[in-house]
Amino acid sequence: MNKIKNTLFSNKPVTINNDSLIMAIESSCDETACAIVKGGREVLANVVASQIKIHEEYGGVIPEIAAREHLEAINVVIDETFKQAGVNGNDISAFAGTVGPGLVGCLLVGLNATKTLALAYDKPFIGVNHLNAHIAANFIDTNLEPPFISLLVSGGHTQIIKVSSYSDMEIIGETIDDAVGEAYDKVARLIGLPYPGGPKLDKLAQEGNPFAFKLPEAKVGEYDFSFSGLKTAVLRLVKSFEGKDMPVNDICASFQECVSSTLVRKVRKALEAYNYKQVVLAGGVAANSEIRKKIFDLEKEGYRAYAPIMKYCTDNASMVASSAFFFDNTFDNVNVEVFSRV
Ligand code: KG4
Ligand code: ZN
Repeated sequence: MNKIKNTLFSNKPVTINNDSLIMAIESSCDETACAIVKGGREVLANVVASQIKIHEEYGGVIPEIAAREHLEAINVVIDETFKQAGVNGNDISAFAGTVGPGLVGCLLVGLNATKTLALAYDKPFIGVNHLNAHIAANFIDTNLEPPFISLLVSGGHTQIIKVSSYSDMEIIGETIDDAVGEAYDKVARLIGLPYPGGPKLDKLAQEGNPFAFKLPEAKVGEYDFSFSGLKTAVLRLVKSFEGKDMPVNDICASFQECVSSTLVRKVRKALEAYNYKQVVLAGGVAANSEIRKKIFDLEKEGYRAYAPIMKYCTDNASMVASSAFFFDNTFDNVNVEVFSRV
């Protein structure tokens, strides 16, 4: 892999190759993260300051508080990253930052820090799409190369993406209402679990009977999803147990079964339709035990499956560096503005 990028002041071209170090910053939601990655696959430092404890008491992320916390944390996180990698700014080939989608006030903090570093060290600036970055987490410590079908499941997105090459990606299906992570967090709240409920619901589901309750699967486009009806069905189920002992684990397991089987059935359909042999799980919900299991079960049908290790599933900056290295970006202009939605 060889890419030529221009520096910001001197216009002196920089070659990005397998020995290049990319420093990346991620601040799109409630994690302030910085990383240094060599050749797109080898992580030299991965630092994440999570704000989960701060937002827990509000039951969700408060954007204004999150932005202020990013400001508090960003310099410390960058210093720590340099320290852990044992390098300084002059050793970095390019600086990459998340442009969007995400919370605008939060993105501004990380992106301005990235631009400042690129300007200060006169190195190339690479703006990265957060969703591409989640997919790129799968390049870390693997030999993965396109083409592949990716299932991207996060707090804000649920998409099936056909990745034909490093420069050619196409969304072939997505949710028409709630994202999977959002559905998990809402259902978790219904049954009284604290924010963020997704991982907690997953834990309880593992103790329950996935076939205890038959929950409805939405009828939408071939590769599309809808989870709001399912959420309402769980609400009705929970209400039916008012004043009685609620079988929480069975409800969680049945919900998890419905979501995971729908997702994987549609992914299999896409693999068959496009005759792709590799499947790649991405996004915060890629940490989910049952979705991971069902994706890896596709290996029994002859497909090769990938999912990031846990710390690269949820928001981190290593995936941003990897995305900057592999995927061709449209955001390399330093004047690029942050954006909240795709
Ligand atoms: O990708 P991410 O870190 O942030 C976004 O870009 O949205 O994803 C966060 C989402 C949250 O909704 C969280 O509840 C969910 O991922 N999540 C899980 C699990 N771990 C994280 N959902 C279900 N099961 C899990 N194990
Ligand atoms: Zn994310």
